[in-house]
Amino acid sequence: MDRSMAVVLAALAGVMPAAAEPVGVAAQGGFPEYLFLEKSPRAEADATARMLAKAVIAGRMIIFAHGAKITDPALGDKGFGGAVFEQQWRRATDDLTIEATPTQKRILDKLFWAGRQVIDNNQDRINVQGIAWKHFLPAKWEREMGQVFTARTGIIIKQPGRTYRNPVNVPDDVERATLEHFIRAGHDENRPRVTFATMGKQPVVRYMEPIRLLAPCLPCHGKPKGQPDMLGFHKDGLDTGDLIGLMSVTLAVGD
Ligand code: HEC
Repeated sequence: MDRSMAVVLAALAGVMPAAAEPVGVAAQGGFPEYLFLEKSPRAEADATARMLAKAVIAGRMIIFAHGAKITDPALGDKGFGGAVFEQQWRRATDDLTIEATPTQKRILDKLFWAGRQVIDNNQDRINVQGIAWKHFLPAKWEREMGQVFTARTGIIIKQPGRTYRNPVNVPDDVERATLEHFIRAGHDENRPRVTFATMGKQPVVRYMEPIRLLAPCLPCHGKPKGQPDMLGFHKDGLDTGDLIGLMSVTLAVGD
């Protein structure tokens, strides 16, 4: 080794200690929620989580149905505010809410409220003129709605992704195992996975069902794998019916 190389290596050893603590990693212990404001009686916890998952999927579909209008660069005001959205969403979930218990009704009302907030919060974005892709997608609505809903209820709604585009959607260990289960099991396996667990001292029910791709999802999540989509993310290389993520609900159980 010549002298100058030795100097460079010595300098590097000074700035890069061999056994450095890793940075930018998850802190150990702790849970995504600590104060469980809303709880569901154990007897109906599974059904409540399922109801929330179905309602969120219905909300996603409404955003999706407005996609052409939202991405039309010629349009300014889209007439798609929180009140309009909430009305359509409630109508689309009539069959769910008709059988809801009083606890379920109260929780669903907070879900509708959270979804409406997010549409109202995004009005400036939705109504931008002259730009087609405004990064207002069902998945973005759901992510922001989930955070608003968690703030008000302590119930966690997430959509962990197979290859996540937003870091909020990173799967935890149970979600990763569930993604793998649905990928292994193939297109016809859609039975939700329900487990009882604890977060700290709090018993919770964890409900997960698959989110599968439809044809209109493929410009971004389809083929060819690795090609940039219109937002710059690499396409996932998947087909219709393939698993892209999970609807994941974590709900405290108690009276
Ligand atoms: C215009 C491109 C585009 C289309 C079309 C699209 N997505 Fe996405 N998808 C994204 C982006 C961008 C995100 C990250 C959104 C965020 O959280 O801000 C995302 C996130 C997701 C996530 C959460 C995991 C993650 O990657 O962060 C799921 C699940 C998902 N999409 C499913 C779907 C499904 C199902 C469809 C069709 C109904 C669809 N997407 C259509 C671009 C797209």
